[in-house]
Amino acid sequence: MGKDTIEVIAAEAKQANMMDYEQARKEFDWSDVEKRFSWHETGKVNLAYEAIDRHATSELKDKIALHYSDPVRDESYTFEQLRRESNKAANMLRKLGIGKGDRVFIFMPRTPELYFILLGIIKIGAIAGPLFEAFMETAVRDRLQDSGAVAIVTTPKLVGRVPEAELPELKHIIVYGDEAELAEHHIHLGNAMAEASDEADIEWVDGEDGLILHYTSGSTGKPKGVYHVHRAMVQHEYTGRIVLDLQPDDIYWCTADPGWVTGTSYGIFAPWLNGATNVIRGGRFSPQDWYETIQRYKVTVWYSAPTAFRMLMGAGDEAVQQYDLSSLRHVLSVGEPLNPEVIRWGYRVYKQRIHDTWWMTETGAQLICNYPRMDIRPGSMGRPLPGIEAAILDDQGNVLPPLRMGNLAIKTPWPSIMRKIWNNPAKFEEYMRIDGWYISGDSAYMDEDGYFWFQGRIDDVINTSGERVGPFEVESKLVEHPAVAEAGVIGKPDPVRGEVIKAFISLREGYEPSDELKQDITRFVKEGLSAHAAPREIEFKDKLPKTRSGKIMRRVLKAWELELPTGDLSTLED
Ligand code: WT7
Repeated sequence: MGKDTIEVIAAEAKQANMMDYEQARKEFDWSDVEKRFSWHETGKVNLAYEAIDRHATSELKDKIALHYSDPVRDESYTFEQLRRESNKAANMLRKLGIGKGDRVFIFMPRTPELYFILLGIIKIGAIAGPLFEAFMETAVRDRLQDSGAVAIVTTPKLVGRVPEAELPELKHIIVYGDEAELAEHHIHLGNAMAEASDEADIEWVDGEDGLILHYTSGSTGKPKGVYHVHRAMVQHEYTGRIVLDLQPDDIYWCTADPGWVTGTSYGIFAPWLNGATNVIRGGRFSPQDWYETIQRYKVTVWYSAPTAFRMLMGAGDEAVQQYDLSSLRHVLSVGEPLNPEVIRWGYRVYKQRIHDTWWMTETGAQLICNYPRMDIRPGSMGRPLPGIEAAILDDQGNVLPPLRMGNLAIKTPWPSIMRKIWNNPAKFEEYMRIDGWYISGDSAYMDEDGYFWFQGRIDDVINTSGERVGPFEVESKLVEHPAVAEAGVIGKPDPVRGEVIKAFISLREGYEPSDELKQDITRFVKEGLSAHAAPREIEFKDKLPKTRSGKIMRRVLKAWELELPTGDLSTLED
């Protein structure tokens, strides 16, 4: 692409962050950011203390930290109130004998209690494992088993998806809800919290001690437990300041659920480390509800995802005009490629430049971004943060010149990089296979001015509505269905969801293709794994393309689907 053909939406001076990019890169040193935390007096640290308690003993004590609402609840909490509520959660867990390094899962919809508990887990030095509420039994079981979780906090509705009999290490099931719906051995969260003191000692930990486990999908095998440590806070705080551009008066809303990394790193850690007022909206997405939320709280900084912006775009300009969105001053996006069309639309209707940011569960925090004061090139993810060196590598690890497509790689380390994949060192090594670099699995190129342009995934991981789905996990579930002999799963391009899941299925003897069967198979995955992992399209085939070693060739399925050449078929079975 020639320089003169690049579309640019120029930066405006209204953002408070006046960082000069080149200057900031030159002067940058992570150790300057580290000095902002209290470990320089104690040698130890705790993210929950830095995010909450520190403010509760400052002039921010009575500042609103959390505005929470959903269709039935409407509450606000100050930093001091969050300190006390999370202390109660910490004491409740300690009383059960839970402590440093233990894995405690949270499996519940967004409510204030979810946030109290997550902070409480961190306060006692335990490791939080947040699970998205849509997960079904198989998905829950795999994650709890792999991590050896000792406790889970859930609801009467969701507890049925926790297969206790298959989880010998799970000692405590804490249920948030109506006491009448609890089993004898369940612990009632409300009572346990009510009994607990609201003063608690912080467990001071090392920066390298465990903080959170986020499970994410790869192209093969079960989901991987991406393990993050307390030191990640350095990058959460920094990016909250310079990328989210959080200022003392900001009302910030990140629309992601804490079941995904965006919902913790940027829905909890970054805003509260910066002392910002955080908006959490429970319930489901609807354009009216979201605009209403912005209008009601006068949201100033808004972090969301391309799939949501596309749905909002689909709801039309009229929907926007019914609300006063004039409080917005900074809008950001993450999770999948942000279409130039969406940027142009946002610029026209919200009068806001939507700032794309690139990062991954494994990276823990933002790495390549459009800064507030940076010219936006629609379609580009932006440029690496100060302190971050990104490059495009060929498969041998050579750095490629600008405009050449290859592996998007980041020079290691940075504060928020995952420290391991739980129970799976070999998987971790795959990311680090080229000395000194983290290999992301994305392909991209860099233009002559250092902007990075996303091209696609190198593996078969599907990105549907900004959520990563591993085809293997879906295929494994599909073949548990009595009618399914074999299944191959691909992502099919979709204008709103980015990709949708399409399954190619060969049937067992005695089964015939039919629409009812398709529906039954879809329901089977929905109920067994999760709604977002269920195929939206199913195509029956007599035979699936396989390598001689029996591996289903998703690449060929994808080529069929897109009517592209199938490429090298030398390894095809017959
Ligand atoms: C994958 C990571 C951590 C953010 C939430 C998703 C894709 C992420 C962008 C972007 C194009 C993007 C990549 C990446 N992705 N951001 N700005 N432009 N693609 O985290 O579930 O770990 O997924 O999402 O393919 O590898 P995740």
